[in-house]
Amino acid sequence: MDFLLKNGYAVDYAEDLEGRTDILISNGVIARVGQNLDANDARVIDCEGLTVFPGLCDIHVHLRDPGQTYKEDVLTGCEAAAAGGVTAVACMPNTVPTADCPDVIKYILQKAKGAAAKVYPIGAITKGLKGEELCDYAALKAAGCVAVSDDGRPVESASVMEHGMLKAQLAGLAVISHCEDLKVINGGIMNDGEVARRLGAKGMSRLSEDVVTARELAISRSCGAPIHIAHVSTEGSADLIRAAKHIGIKCTCETAPHYFMLTEEKLSGRDADYRMNPPLRTEADRQAIIRALADGTIDCIITDHAPHSAEDKSDFEKAPNGVVGLETSLAAALTELYHGGVLTLKDIVRLMCVNPRRILGIPGGSLKEGEPADIAVADINELWTVEPDKLHSKSHNTCFKGMTLKGKVKYTFLDGKTVYRD
Ligand code: DOR
Ligand code: ZN
Repeated sequence: MDFLLKNGYAVDYAEDLEGRTDILISNGVIARVGQNLDANDARVIDCEGLTVFPGLCDIHVHLRDPGQTYKEDVLTGCEAAAAGGVTAVACMPNTVPTADCPDVIKYILQKAKGAAAKVYPIGAITKGLKGEELCDYAALKAAGCVAVSDDGRPVESASVMEHGMLKAQLAGLAVISHCEDLKVINGGIMNDGEVARRLGAKGMSRLSEDVVTARELAISRSCGAPIHIAHVSTEGSADLIRAAKHIGIKCTCETAPHYFMLTEEKLSGRDADYRMNPPLRTEADRQAIIRALADGTIDCIITDHAPHSAEDKSDFEKAPNGVVGLETSLAAALTELYHGGVLTLKDIVRLMCVNPRRILGIPGGSLKEGEPADIAVADINELWTVEPDKLHSKSHNTCFKGMTLKGKVKYTFLDGKTVYRD
C-alpha cells in the first residue's frame, strides 16, 4: 500500500530540508517530497501538527538473541525499536554464544528477516569477549557485521586493542570501545559518590571510565586507526574526547538519554532498574554531557538498550547492569534537549539518524526522494507518562518509569510499511 503523509513538518539533516511538506511513499521508497502532492491510490495520513523524521538508527542495542531470549529476542527488540521510531539497530555481540564468528551473525540476520527494524550485527573484538585472541574480522565483515566491540567488558590489554583496531581498519569495520578499568571498578555497582556512601554500596569510580577513554585515544593517536567510544557518562571522558578531536585524533563517541537526564540520586531507593554500566553519575557530569552534545563533541545518541527480566533485577546488589531504552530515546531527547532549548530538531536528526549511520557505514537516514521509506512520525508536543507494562520489549527495566516525557512517536514506517502505530 502507498501512503501520502500530508502536511507534516519534515526535518532532514543531509538534504537541508526543514518545513511543511507532503511525502509520498510508494513501493517502499520515498517517491516524492513536495507541496500539494496528489494522493492517487495512496492512503492519506494527516500529519498536520506532526513532525516527520528519518527513521532513527541506534548503534548500541542488546537483543539478547541467541541465548537469553527470556530477556529479549531479535523480533521483540525490533518491535520495541519500531515503537520508538527506530528503524535500524546495531546489536552487540555479548550473546550466548558470543557473536564472534560468522555462524552467529548469520543466525541473527536470518532471524531479522521480516523484523520491524533493520538489524546490523556487531561482532566481537576478541573470541568469547575474553580479551585475548582477535576474531577473524574479514569473515565477520563478509557475514554482515558493521563493527566490532567487546561491549559489556573492556579489552584489558592495550596491545590487544591496538592490534584489533589496526586489523578492523583493514577489514573496513569500526571499533566500539566499552571503556572501563575492571581493577579500578573493583566490584562497584553504582557511581562512587555521595549516594553510594549514604547507601553503603560499593562505588564505581569515574576514573575507571576516564582512564580507558584516555588509553583508547592514545592508541588511536599512535596507530592512526579510528575509535568509537561507547556510552560516555563522565565530564572527564567528554573533556578528553573534545581535546582529542581538537588535535585530529580519529575518534567519535556516543551517549545515552539516561546520562543527560538522570543522576545517581535515582539510586537512593535501592532500585536496580536504575543500575547500568557505566552508572548514572553526578549533576556536574550530566551538565557536561549536555554541553558536549551541544558543542558537537558527542556524535550520537544511542540507548544501550539492555533488557533484563524483573527477576534478574530483583536484588539491588546482585542484579545485572542495564536498562531498556528503545521506546523512550526520541521522547527523552526531545524533552531534555529540544524542549530544554539545548538543540534544534536538525541537531536531533544529526545525533539520532545521520551520525550513527555514518560512523558504522549504515545506509539511510534521509527523507530525500529515492531513499527507502524508513520514517518516524512524532507529535513532539504530546505529553505521556512512561508505564513499564506498556512497553513492547520483553523486559520492562526502564529508568524512565513514571516520568512524563514530551514527544510521542505516532507512526513508524519501514520500507514503506507501517511497523508501528500509536
Ligand atoms: O548496562 C550495561 N548493560 N552495560 C553494558 O556494558 C552491558 C549491558 C548488558 O549487556 O546488559
Ligand atoms: Zn558497554
